[in-house]
Amino acid sequence: MCAPHLLQFFDVTNKRGWIITILVLVVLLTTAAWLAKARSYAPEQPIAFSHQVHVTDYKIDCLYCHSYAPRSPFAGVPSVERCMGCHQVVAGDKPEVKKLKEYWDRSEPIPWNKVYVLPRFVRFNHEAHVRAAVGCQECHGAVESMTKIIKVNSLEMGWCLDCHNARHASVDCLVCHY
Ligand code: HEC
Ligand code: HEC
Ligand code: HEC
Ligand code: HEC
Ligand code: HEC
Repeated sequence: MCAPHLLQFFDVTNKRGWIITILVLVVLLTTAAWLAKARSYAPEQPIAFSHQVHVTDYKIDCLYCHSYAPRSPFAGVPSVERCMGCHQVVAGDKPEVKKLKEYWDRSEPIPWNKVYVLPRFVRFNHEAHVRAAVGCQECHGAVESMTKIIKVNSLEMGWCLDCHNARHASVDCLVCHY
């Protein structure tokens, strides 16, 4: 009784049916597109920097560039100087590397868009996780095969707690909150 009753709204042989069908489709598609975007947040960057090229093709270690991770709360992003250490001699003719050189010439930092951001009331610490041998990939995914950083985790509290419980790490509120 109920199903056929509902279906009559989508009867495309009349005008009202058409309008309702199209409206429903538009809502569904917009929601799907929004969900897809929310799941794979990957902002445009000022320079098309590829982790795959640097990590997989040229075997550069994560910590060569994110050198603060084992000794501070932050992993850090490398300075223009660190990039130019190689790019003064490597691939200087490539358009994206020319952009890099322009920042260097103007002595300006590169305004990278952050992908992983916690609210300010949450305390996080890279050093503690490196010390406990939690791999970068457990939280950031297969960065070594990304040509562009994609956010692979929600960073919601439940996500932190699931792993803390599984690894017998502390779930005391004050570990993560000020
Ligand atoms: C240890 C050396 C090294 C460091 C440090 C380094 N790169 Fe590279 N980069 C390379 C090599 C090698 C290539 C590949 C060159 C090629 O394919 O001809 C490359 C390629 C690139 C490309 C071109 C990719 C393409 O194919 O168009 C860009 C852009 C780039 N790097 C940006 C950066 C930035 C930004 C930094 C600093 C955050 C950086 N690199 C740090 C070695 C390095
Ligand atoms: C040659 C230098 C270099 C190497 C090697 C490198 N990175 Fe990066 N990384 C960068 C730069 C530059 C950015 C900022 C631009 C971007 O997001 O692509 C970045 C961004 C990131 C981000 C996103 C940070 C944010 O929130 O915006 C993560 C996560 C990350 N790197 C993890 C890794 C991991 C894991 C490895 C090793 C598998 C690695 N990186 C190796 C230079 C490097
Ligand atoms: C337990 C999960 C976890 C692990 C393991 C982890 N990260 Fe992160 N990473 C985060 C979170 C959460 C943020 C956002 C921090 C914030 O906003 O305060 C972040 C931020 C970053 C950033 C942005 C810049 C910064 O300093 O905040 C980079 C780069 C990064 N991580 C690289 C790495 C690298 C490289 C490793 C491995 C050595 C690693 N991360 C290991 C969770 C993790
Ligand atoms: C994949 C597993 C994993 C995830 C995800 C994870 N953690 Fe952890 N975390 C650990 C482990 C393991 C330790 C080390 C516990 C120890 O040293 O006894 C730790 C330690 C910490 C510490 C340091 C505690 C201390 O005693 O200094 C803080 C703070 C922390 N985590 C915050 C977070 C936050 C915030 C998130 C989510 C954004 C998060 N963690 C996500 C595994 C994880
Ligand atoms: C392992 C880390 C961790 C622990 C332990 C933790 N939290 Fe959180 N909490 C987070 C993160 C990350 C967020 C921000 C993301 C989110 O809102 O889910 C958060 C968000 C919150 C918020 C804000 C929620 C919102 O919707 O704005 C409250 C309130 C909160 N936590 C309370 C607590 C209390 C109470 C405890 C102890 C019973 C606790 N947390 C333990 C990581 C943690």
